[in-house]
Amino acid sequence: MSSISIKGVRKEFKGHQALKSIDLEVKDQEFCVLLGPSGCGKTTLMRIIAGLETETAGDVLIGGKRMNGLPPRERNIAMVFQNYAVFPHMTIDENIGFGLRMKKAPEDKVRHQIQRAAELMHIEHLLDRYAGQLSGGQRQRVAVARALAVEPDVLLMDEPLSNLDALLRLEMRSELKGLLRDIKTTTIYVTHDQTEAMSLGDRIAVMHGGEIVQYDAPPVVYVRPATTFVGGFIGNPPMNFITSVSTHAALGLMAPVKAVSLGIRPEDLDLVEGGGLAIQAKVVEMLGASQQVNSRVEGELIRLSTNATPTIAPNQTVQVIAKPGKARWYDAAGHLMA
Ligand SMILES: Nc1ncnc2c1ncn2[C@@H]1O[C@H](COP(=O)(O)OP(=O)(O)OP(=O)(O)O)[C@@H](O)[C@H]1O
Ligand SMILES: [Mg+2]
Repeated sequence: MSSISIKGVRKEFKGHQALKSIDLEVKDQEFCVLLGPSGCGKTTLMRIIAGLETETAGDVLIGGKRMNGLPPRERNIAMVFQNYAVFPHMTIDENIGFGLRMKKAPEDKVRHQIQRAAELMHIEHLLDRYAGQLSGGQRQRVAVARALAVEPDVLLMDEPLSNLDALLRLEMRSELKGLLRDIKTTTIYVTHDQTEAMSLGDRIAVMHGGEIVQYDAPPVVYVRPATTFVGGFIGNPPMNFITSVSTHAALGLMAPVKAVSLGIRPEDLDLVEGGGLAIQAKVVEMLGASQQVNSRVEGELIRLSTNATPTIAPNQTVQVIAKPGKARWYDAAGHLMA
């Protein structure tokens, strides 16, 4: 059993609070994604779990055992980090087998695991090459294969696909999830790419300014963002936030007591023939299956995402209302109320 428990973890770098007070529970074999903008503390948290950085306060437990003070090699974890280091003076074969050989695993097991990890990552044909003879994307796959080969209890991955081209990234993304389910490890995966987080995670921990602001399954994070930050960070285009009371009314909505802003996803605004809120299209982007329209009402940006037909022309005025049950209300501090 390799659940991970982070309890009240703080990290200060010379007066700078990188992590405020992190609580996070990852179940055995769960795939947890840490998602957040640059500088929010994702890598710092991963390094603390790995034992590469010391927490200022709090506890890290793996499989119920307190890890504080233990070096990385005593935590039965494997890591693939942003600046994945593949040993340049070793062949790919030696790179992938490195962790197992360090653990003095029998050679037939090492061979088996190298072959399996290489096949999973589609690098079997590169095993005899040196790392210096590979592209960045290939090196990244070697780093993932090397981590998988040791069959760790816990796999920590920090932006492991960031150096792959868009197509390969998509392909690897869909493979990675099934692959990790098969090898039954508990995984924490860092990304700042929200589509990657949505498609990979069993649960997503959304980080902002050194804190976890929401920790839920992807559909919940999408449908009920806990804060306006989450609603704005997840979704492309992001959620609309509308404070104008007359705009609320035109959309057929009324704010609950103390609610300041209405959150509504661009695809949750429906075109209607008469009535509703009149919006004039300022920018229209045709995306093939859908079109996105930007408009301003009472000085507030409103984005609409709708079917590609009928086509909306720039400057055309259309009428919209909110889909039933899709409105979210946020207080002055940006917290979800209803
Ligand atoms: N060794 C360090 N000394 C001082 N400050 C640090 C150190 N490492 C990280 N920080 C600061 O802590 C904050 C969190 O950094 P971290 O690397 O965890 O962010 P991140 O979420 O991984 O960002 P990115 O998506 O850019 O990788 C940042 O403000 C960073 O400048
Ligand atoms: Mg980072």
